[in-house]
Amino acid sequence: MPFGVIYIAIMPTSDTGLDKTLAALGVTEAAQVVPRFAQVRSQFDGQFQTVADESEWKIFRDTWLGRKSGVLTLITDNWLKPATPDLKRVVGQQLNELRAHVESQIEARRLTVESGAEEAALARDRVDLSLPGVLRLVGSHHLIRQVFQEIEDIFFSIGFSIVEGPEIETPYYNFEALNIPEFHPVRDDMDTFYLDSKGAATPLLLRTHTSPMQIRTMEKQKPPVRVIVPGKVYRRDNPDATHSFAFHQIEGLAVDTDITFCDFTGTIEYFVKQFFGPSVKTRFRPSYFPFTEPSVEFDVSCPFCAGTGAAATGGSCSKCKGAAWIELFGAGMVDPAVYGFVGYDPKKVSGFAFGIGIDRLAMLKYGIDDIQVFFQNDVRFLRQFP
Ligand code: DAH
Repeated sequence: MPFGVIYIAIMPTSDTGLDKTLAALGVTEAAQVVPRFAQVRSQFDGQFQTVADESEWKIFRDTWLGRKSGVLTLITDNWLKPATPDLKRVVGQQLNELRAHVESQIEARRLTVESGAEEAALARDRVDLSLPGVLRLVGSHHLIRQVFQEIEDIFFSIGFSIVEGPEIETPYYNFEALNIPEFHPVRDDMDTFYLDSKGAATPLLLRTHTSPMQIRTMEKQKPPVRVIVPGKVYRRDNPDATHSFAFHQIEGLAVDTDITFCDFTGTIEYFVKQFFGPSVKTRFRPSYFPFTEPSVEFDVSCPFCAGTGAAATGGSCSKCKGAAWIELFGAGMVDPAVYGFVGYDPKKVSGFAFGIGIDRLAMLKYGIDDIQVFFQNDVRFLRQFP
Protein backbone atom coordinates (compact mmCIF):
# COMPACT_ATOMS: atom_id res chain seq x y z
CA MET A 1 0.00 0.00 0.00
CA PRO A 2 1.45 3.40 -0.89
CA PHE A 3 2.57 5.72 1.92
CA GLY A 4 0.09 8.54 1.49
CA VAL A 5 -2.89 6.28 1.44
CA ILE A 6 -2.03 4.42 4.57
CA TYR A 7 -1.13 7.61 6.37
CA ILE A 8 -4.53 9.13 5.70
CA ALA A 9 -6.32 5.87 6.41
CA ILE A 10 -4.80 5.47 9.84
CA MET A 11 -5.14 9.08 10.95
CA PRO A 12 -8.29 8.56 13.02
CA THR A 13 -8.36 12.04 14.52
CA SER A 14 -11.60 13.60 13.43
CA ASP A 15 -13.98 10.69 13.10
CA THR A 16 -13.05 9.43 16.55
CA GLY A 17 -13.15 12.90 18.03
CA LEU A 18 -9.56 12.96 19.11
CA ASP A 19 -9.24 16.62 18.27
CA LYS A 20 -11.94 17.57 20.73
CA THR A 21 -12.31 17.34 24.48
CA LEU A 22 -14.73 14.83 25.95
CA ALA A 23 -16.92 17.66 27.12
CA ALA A 24 -17.10 18.98 23.57
CA LEU A 25 -18.08 15.49 22.41
CA GLY A 26 -20.91 15.44 24.95
CA VAL A 27 -19.29 12.74 27.10
CA THR A 28 -20.31 13.40 30.65
CA GLU A 29 -20.55 9.96 32.27
CA ALA A 30 -18.18 7.08 32.76
CA ALA A 31 -20.43 4.78 30.75
CA GLN A 32 -19.89 6.92 27.66
CA VAL A 33 -16.13 6.78 27.97
CA VAL A 34 -15.72 3.07 27.41
CA PRO A 35 -17.32 2.96 23.91
CA ARG A 36 -15.17 5.90 22.86
CA PHE A 37 -12.02 3.94 23.66
CA ALA A 38 -13.48 0.81 22.12
CA GLN A 39 -13.92 2.72 18.86
CA VAL A 40 -10.33 3.91 18.90
CA ARG A 41 -9.14 0.43 19.67
CA SER A 42 -11.08 -1.17 16.85
CA GLN A 43 -9.68 1.43 14.51
CA PHE A 44 -6.21 0.48 15.72
CA ASP A 45 -6.90 -3.20 15.18
CA GLY A 46 -8.19 -2.53 11.68
CA GLN A 47 -5.17 -0.49 10.65
CA PHE A 48 -2.86 -2.98 12.27
CA GLN A 49 -3.78 -5.62 9.69
CA THR A 50 -2.64 -3.48 6.79
CA VAL A 51 0.95 -2.94 7.96
CA ALA A 52 3.01 -4.98 5.53
CA ASP A 53 6.63 -3.86 5.72
CA GLU A 54 9.09 -1.92 7.77
CA SER A 55 8.42 1.50 6.31
CA GLU A 56 4.67 1.12 6.74
CA TRP A 57 5.29 -0.09 10.27
CA LYS A 58 7.26 3.05 11.10
CA ILE A 59 4.48 5.32 9.89
CA PHE A 60 1.98 3.24 11.82
CA ARG A 61 4.05 3.43 14.99
CA ASP A 62 4.47 7.19 14.72
CA THR A 63 0.77 7.65 14.07
CA TRP A 64 -0.08 5.89 17.30
CA LEU A 65 2.86 6.48 19.58
CA GLY A 66 4.41 9.66 18.15
CA ARG A 67 5.29 11.97 21.05
CA LYS A 68 3.90 15.15 19.54
CA SER A 69 0.78 14.16 17.70
CA GLY A 70 0.44 10.42 18.03
CA VAL A 71 -3.04 9.17 18.86
CA LEU A 72 -2.11 8.37 22.46
CA THR A 73 -0.70 11.84 22.94
CA LEU A 74 -3.86 13.39 21.52
CA ILE A 75 -5.97 11.33 23.90
CA THR A 76 -3.81 12.39 26.81
CA ASP A 77 -3.95 16.07 25.83
CA ASN A 78 -7.55 16.32 24.64
CA TRP A 79 -9.38 13.69 26.64
CA LEU A 80 -7.49 13.00 29.84
CA LYS A 81 -6.00 16.29 30.88
CA PRO A 82 -9.15 18.41 30.48
CA ALA A 83 -11.44 15.65 31.88
CA THR A 84 -13.66 16.45 34.82
CA PRO A 85 -12.58 14.89 38.12
CA ASP A 86 -15.48 12.40 37.78
CA LEU A 87 -14.23 11.05 34.52
CA LYS A 88 -10.49 11.31 35.05
CA ARG A 89 -10.17 7.95 36.73
CA VAL A 90 -11.99 5.96 34.08
CA VAL A 91 -10.32 7.86 31.20
CA GLY A 92 -6.92 7.21 32.78
CA GLN A 93 -7.71 3.54 33.20
CA GLN A 94 -9.01 3.19 29.64
CA LEU A 95 -6.02 5.05 28.30
CA ASN A 96 -3.63 2.74 30.13
CA GLU A 97 -5.34 -0.32 28.73
CA LEU A 98 -5.32 1.14 25.26
CA ARG A 99 -1.64 2.07 25.59
CA ALA A 100 -0.71 -1.41 26.76
CA HIS A 101 -2.56 -2.92 23.82
CA VAL A 102 -1.11 -0.52 21.26
CA GLU A 103 2.47 -0.87 22.51
CA SER A 104 2.44 -4.64 22.70
CA GLN A 105 0.82 -5.02 19.30
CA ILE A 106 3.20 -2.60 17.66
CA GLU A 107 6.17 -4.41 19.17
CA ALA A 108 4.80 -7.77 18.04
CA ARG A 109 4.29 -6.35 14.57
CA ARG A 110 7.86 -5.11 14.52
CA LEU A 111 9.12 -8.64 15.00
CA THR A 112 7.05 -10.11 12.18
CA VAL A 113 7.91 -7.25 9.82
CA GLU A 114 11.60 -7.65 10.57
CA SER A 115 11.62 -11.40 10.09
CA GLY A 116 9.67 -10.85 6.88
CA ALA A 117 12.44 -8.48 5.72
CA GLU A 118 14.99 -11.08 6.59
CA GLU A 119 13.16 -13.74 4.66
CA ALA A 120 12.85 -11.43 1.69
CA ALA A 121 16.59 -10.75 1.84
CA LEU A 122 17.31 -14.45 2.05
CA ALA A 123 15.05 -15.12 -0.89
CA ARG A 124 16.79 -12.39 -2.83
CA ASP A 125 20.25 -13.82 -2.13
CA ARG A 126 19.29 -17.43 -2.56
CA VAL A 127 21.60 -19.26 -4.96
CA ASP A 128 19.71 -20.91 -7.74
CA LEU A 129 21.57 -24.16 -8.17
CA SER A 130 19.57 -25.01 -11.25
CA LEU A 131 21.09 -22.12 -13.23
CA PRO A 132 23.76 -23.12 -15.73
CA GLY A 133 27.26 -22.40 -14.36
CA VAL A 134 29.77 -19.86 -15.61
CA LEU A 135 32.19 -21.66 -17.85
CA ARG A 136 35.74 -20.66 -17.00
CA LEU A 137 38.20 -21.86 -19.55
CA VAL A 138 41.11 -23.69 -18.05
CA GLY A 139 44.31 -22.88 -19.88
CA SER A 140 46.86 -25.39 -21.00
CA HIS A 141 50.62 -25.48 -20.90
CA HIS A 142 52.34 -23.43 -23.56
CA LEU A 143 53.93 -25.62 -26.22
CA ILE A 144 57.39 -24.56 -25.04
CA ARG A 145 56.53 -25.67 -21.51
CA GLN A 146 55.26 -28.97 -22.91
CA VAL A 147 58.49 -29.58 -24.81
CA PHE A 148 60.52 -28.71 -21.72
CA GLN A 149 58.51 -31.28 -19.84
CA GLU A 150 58.99 -33.92 -22.51
CA ILE A 151 62.76 -33.45 -22.52
CA GLU A 152 63.00 -33.25 -18.74
CA ASP A 153 61.09 -36.53 -18.46
CA ILE A 154 63.47 -38.28 -20.84
CA PHE A 155 66.61 -37.20 -19.02
CA PHE A 156 65.02 -37.67 -15.63
CA SER A 157 64.33 -41.29 -16.54
CA ILE A 158 68.04 -41.93 -17.06
CA GLY A 159 69.26 -40.40 -13.83
CA PHE A 160 69.63 -36.69 -14.53
CA SER A 161 68.27 -34.24 -12.00
CA ILE A 162 66.87 -30.85 -12.85
CA VAL A 163 68.38 -27.61 -11.60
CA GLU A 164 67.58 -24.03 -12.44
CA GLY A 165 69.68 -20.90 -12.29
CA PRO A 166 69.53 -17.13 -12.49
CA GLU A 167 68.65 -15.33 -15.69
CA ILE A 168 70.76 -12.39 -14.55
CA GLU A 169 74.37 -13.47 -14.62
CA THR A 170 77.86 -12.09 -14.25
CA PRO A 171 80.32 -12.16 -17.15
CA TYR A 172 82.38 -14.59 -15.09
CA TYR A 173 79.76 -17.33 -15.12
CA ASN A 174 78.37 -16.53 -18.54
CA PHE A 175 81.77 -16.34 -20.23
CA GLU A 176 85.08 -16.50 -18.36
CA ALA A 177 84.56 -19.67 -16.34
CA LEU A 178 83.32 -21.30 -19.52
CA ASN A 179 86.70 -20.64 -21.04
CA ILE A 180 85.50 -17.62 -23.03
CA PRO A 181 87.90 -14.82 -22.08
CA GLU A 182 87.19 -11.20 -22.89
CA PHE A 183 87.76 -10.42 -26.59
CA HIS A 184 87.18 -14.06 -27.53
CA PRO A 185 85.44 -13.99 -30.93
CA VAL A 186 82.53 -16.23 -29.86
CA ARG A 187 81.36 -13.40 -27.63
CA ASP A 188 80.20 -11.72 -30.81
CA ASP A 189 77.66 -14.49 -31.34
CA MET A 190 76.45 -14.07 -27.82
CA ASP A 191 76.05 -10.35 -27.64
CA THR A 192 73.53 -9.67 -24.93
CA PHE A 193 71.75 -7.15 -22.74
CA TYR A 194 73.76 -5.60 -19.94
CA LEU A 195 72.02 -4.28 -16.89
CA ASP A 196 72.69 -0.88 -15.50
CA SER A 197 74.85 -2.21 -12.67
CA LYS A 198 76.63 0.94 -11.52
CA GLY A 199 78.02 0.40 -8.06
CA ALA A 200 77.72 -3.39 -8.36
CA ALA A 201 80.82 -5.47 -7.73
CA THR A 202 80.65 -6.80 -11.26
CA PRO A 203 78.74 -5.95 -14.43
CA LEU A 204 75.47 -7.86 -14.78
CA LEU A 205 73.93 -9.27 -17.94
CA LEU A 206 71.07 -11.41 -19.10
CA ARG A 207 72.54 -14.88 -19.63
CA THR A 208 73.06 -15.81 -23.27
CA HIS A 209 72.85 -19.53 -22.59
CA THR A 210 72.13 -21.97 -19.77
CA SER A 211 75.80 -23.05 -19.70
CA PRO A 212 76.69 -20.84 -16.68
CA MET A 213 74.81 -23.40 -14.61
CA GLN A 214 77.51 -25.93 -15.48
CA ILE A 215 79.89 -23.81 -13.45
CA ARG A 216 77.46 -23.04 -10.63
CA THR A 217 76.58 -26.73 -10.31
CA MET A 218 80.18 -27.97 -10.27
CA GLU A 219 81.17 -25.25 -7.76
CA LYS A 220 78.57 -26.60 -5.36
CA GLN A 221 78.85 -30.31 -5.99
CA LYS A 222 81.57 -32.90 -6.24
CA PRO A 223 81.37 -35.50 -9.03
CA PRO A 224 79.37 -37.45 -10.00
CA VAL A 225 77.26 -34.71 -11.56
CA ARG A 226 74.29 -35.41 -13.78
CA VAL A 227 72.04 -32.42 -14.31
CA ILE A 228 69.90 -30.73 -16.88
CA VAL A 229 69.10 -27.04 -16.72
CA PRO A 230 65.94 -25.80 -18.39
CA GLY A 231 65.58 -22.04 -18.72
CA LYS A 232 65.22 -18.79 -20.59
CA VAL A 233 68.14 -17.14 -22.32
CA TYR A 234 68.66 -13.81 -24.07
CA ARG A 235 70.59 -12.45 -26.99
CA ARG A 236 70.75 -9.19 -28.83
CA ASP A 237 69.36 -10.79 -31.99
CA ASN A 238 67.00 -9.07 -34.36
CA PRO A 239 63.72 -10.94 -34.44
CA ASP A 240 63.01 -13.03 -37.53
CA ALA A 241 61.57 -16.47 -38.24
CA THR A 242 64.41 -18.22 -36.41
CA HIS A 243 65.69 -15.54 -34.00
CA SER A 244 64.27 -13.91 -30.91
CA PHE A 245 65.81 -11.77 -28.17
CA ALA A 246 64.56 -14.37 -25.69
CA PHE A 247 64.42 -18.09 -26.19
CA HIS A 248 64.76 -21.35 -24.29
CA GLN A 249 67.44 -23.94 -23.71
CA ILE A 250 68.13 -27.08 -21.76
CA GLU A 251 71.70 -27.48 -20.72
CA GLY A 252 73.00 -30.92 -19.87
CA LEU A 253 76.10 -31.88 -17.91
CA ALA A 254 77.43 -35.25 -16.82
CA VAL A 255 80.79 -35.50 -15.05
CA ASP A 256 82.25 -38.52 -13.33
CA THR A 257 85.53 -40.39 -13.01
CA ASP A 258 85.04 -42.63 -16.03
CA ILE A 259 82.72 -40.98 -18.56
CA THR A 260 83.71 -41.73 -22.14
CA PHE A 261 82.84 -40.36 -25.54
CA CYS A 262 80.72 -43.51 -25.98
CA ASP A 263 78.63 -42.68 -22.91
CA PHE A 264 78.20 -39.26 -24.42
CA THR A 265 76.97 -40.27 -27.86
CA GLY A 266 74.92 -43.14 -26.44
CA THR A 267 73.10 -40.76 -24.09
CA ILE A 268 72.39 -38.28 -26.88
CA GLU A 269 71.22 -41.00 -29.23
CA TYR A 270 68.89 -42.35 -26.55
CA PHE A 271 67.43 -38.90 -26.05
CA VAL A 272 66.95 -38.18 -29.75
CA LYS A 273 65.18 -41.49 -30.35
CA GLN A 274 62.93 -40.94 -27.36
CA PHE A 275 62.06 -37.49 -28.60
CA PHE A 276 61.61 -38.08 -32.34
CA GLY A 277 60.78 -41.79 -32.38
CA PRO A 278 62.82 -45.00 -32.58
CA SER A 279 63.28 -44.96 -36.35
CA VAL A 280 65.48 -41.83 -36.51
CA LYS A 281 69.24 -42.01 -36.72
CA THR A 282 71.73 -39.61 -35.22
CA ARG A 283 75.12 -38.43 -36.34
CA PHE A 284 77.60 -35.89 -35.13
CA ARG A 285 79.94 -33.56 -36.90
CA PRO A 286 82.96 -31.72 -35.54
CA SER A 287 82.24 -28.26 -34.23
CA TYR A 288 83.70 -25.71 -31.86
CA PHE A 289 82.71 -24.44 -28.43
CA PRO A 290 85.27 -22.97 -26.01
CA PHE A 291 83.99 -25.08 -23.11
CA THR A 292 84.03 -28.49 -24.85
CA GLU A 293 86.83 -30.44 -26.46
CA PRO A 294 86.14 -32.13 -28.75
CA SER A 295 82.97 -30.27 -29.68
CA VAL A 296 80.30 -31.66 -31.94
CA GLU A 297 77.05 -30.76 -33.59
CA PHE A 298 74.37 -33.45 -33.42
CA ASP A 299 72.10 -34.10 -36.38
CA VAL A 300 68.99 -36.25 -36.64
CA SER A 301 67.91 -38.05 -39.78
CA CYS A 302 64.99 -36.02 -41.10
CA PRO A 303 61.86 -37.35 -39.34
CA PHE A 304 59.64 -35.92 -42.11
CA CYS A 305 61.08 -37.79 -45.08
CA ALA A 306 62.41 -40.76 -43.12
CA GLY A 307 65.91 -39.54 -43.84
CA THR A 308 65.56 -39.81 -47.60
CA GLY A 309 65.62 -36.11 -48.44
CA ALA A 310 62.73 -36.69 -50.84
CA ALA A 311 59.16 -35.43 -50.42
CA ALA A 312 56.40 -38.05 -50.72
CA THR A 313 54.80 -35.96 -53.44
CA GLY A 314 58.01 -35.74 -55.43
CA GLY A 315 60.83 -33.21 -55.29
CA SER A 316 62.92 -32.67 -52.18
CA CYS A 317 61.71 -32.67 -48.59
CA SER A 318 60.81 -29.15 -47.51
CA LYS A 319 61.96 -29.69 -43.92
CA CYS A 320 65.52 -30.83 -44.51
CA LYS A 321 65.72 -29.17 -47.94
CA GLY A 322 66.71 -32.50 -49.39
CA ALA A 323 69.69 -32.88 -47.04
CA ALA A 324 68.15 -35.91 -45.26
CA TRP A 325 69.65 -34.63 -41.97
CA ILE A 326 68.60 -31.86 -39.65
CA GLU A 327 70.98 -30.08 -37.34
CA LEU A 328 69.85 -30.42 -33.72
CA PHE A 329 72.20 -28.95 -31.13
CA GLY A 330 75.76 -28.49 -29.94
CA ALA A 331 77.56 -30.68 -27.43
CA GLY A 332 80.93 -32.07 -26.54
CA MET A 333 83.28 -33.46 -23.92
CA VAL A 334 83.85 -30.89 -21.18
CA ASP A 335 87.07 -28.97 -21.87
CA PRO A 336 89.65 -29.67 -19.12
CA ALA A 337 90.17 -25.91 -18.81
CA VAL A 338 86.64 -25.62 -17.41
CA TYR A 339 87.45 -28.02 -14.57
CA GLY A 340 90.20 -25.62 -13.57
CA PHE A 341 87.58 -22.94 -12.80
CA VAL A 342 85.62 -25.17 -10.43
CA GLY A 343 88.37 -26.97 -8.61
CA TYR A 344 87.88 -30.35 -10.28
CA ASP A 345 90.99 -32.33 -11.14
CA PRO A 346 91.02 -32.69 -14.96
CA LYS A 347 93.21 -35.78 -14.63
CA LYS A 348 90.61 -37.56 -12.52
CA VAL A 349 87.30 -36.54 -14.07
CA SER A 350 85.75 -36.47 -17.50
CA GLY A 351 82.32 -35.64 -18.79
CA PHE A 352 80.08 -34.29 -21.49
CA ALA A 353 77.80 -31.33 -21.95
CA PHE A 354 75.10 -30.33 -24.39
CA GLY A 355 72.90 -27.33 -25.03
CA ILE A 356 69.51 -27.96 -26.59
CA GLY A 357 67.52 -25.11 -28.13
CA ILE A 358 63.95 -25.80 -27.07
CA ASP A 359 62.26 -23.45 -29.51
CA ARG A 360 64.13 -24.99 -32.39
CA LEU A 361 63.24 -28.52 -31.33
CA ALA A 362 59.60 -27.60 -30.80
CA MET A 363 59.46 -26.01 -34.24
CA LEU A 364 60.98 -29.09 -35.80
CA LYS A 365 58.82 -31.60 -34.04
CA TYR A 366 55.54 -29.74 -34.45
CA GLY A 367 56.12 -28.27 -37.90
CA ILE A 368 56.18 -24.60 -36.85
CA ASP A 369 57.99 -22.28 -39.22
CA ASP A 370 58.19 -19.05 -37.22
CA ILE A 371 59.68 -18.77 -33.74
CA GLN A 372 57.75 -15.56 -33.13
CA VAL A 373 54.47 -17.42 -32.66
CA PHE A 374 55.78 -18.72 -29.35
CA PHE A 375 55.89 -15.21 -27.98
CA GLN A 376 52.83 -13.67 -29.61
CA ASN A 377 50.50 -15.84 -27.56
CA ASP A 378 47.73 -15.82 -30.10
CA VAL A 379 45.16 -18.23 -28.66
CA ARG A 380 44.41 -19.59 -32.13
CA PHE A 381 47.97 -20.89 -32.12
CA LEU A 382 48.08 -21.95 -28.48
CA ARG A 383 44.82 -23.90 -28.76
CA GLN A 384 46.40 -26.20 -31.29
CA PHE A 385 48.54 -27.63 -28.50
CA PRO A 386 46.10 -28.37 -25.68
N1 DAH B 1 75.86 -22.79 -24.84
C1 DAH B 1 75.82 -23.06 -26.24
C2 DAH B 1 75.03 -22.01 -26.98
O1 DAH B 1 74.16 -21.45 -26.38
C3 DAH B 1 75.23 -24.39 -26.54
C4 DAH B 1 76.10 -25.51 -26.06
C5 DAH B 1 76.99 -26.10 -26.92
C6 DAH B 1 76.03 -25.93 -24.76
C7 DAH B 1 77.81 -27.11 -26.52
C8 DAH B 1 76.86 -26.97 -24.32
C9 DAH B 1 77.74 -27.55 -25.23
O2 DAH B 1 76.80 -27.43 -23.08
O3 DAH B 1 78.52 -28.57 -24.81
O4 DAH B 1 75.26 -21.79 -28.12
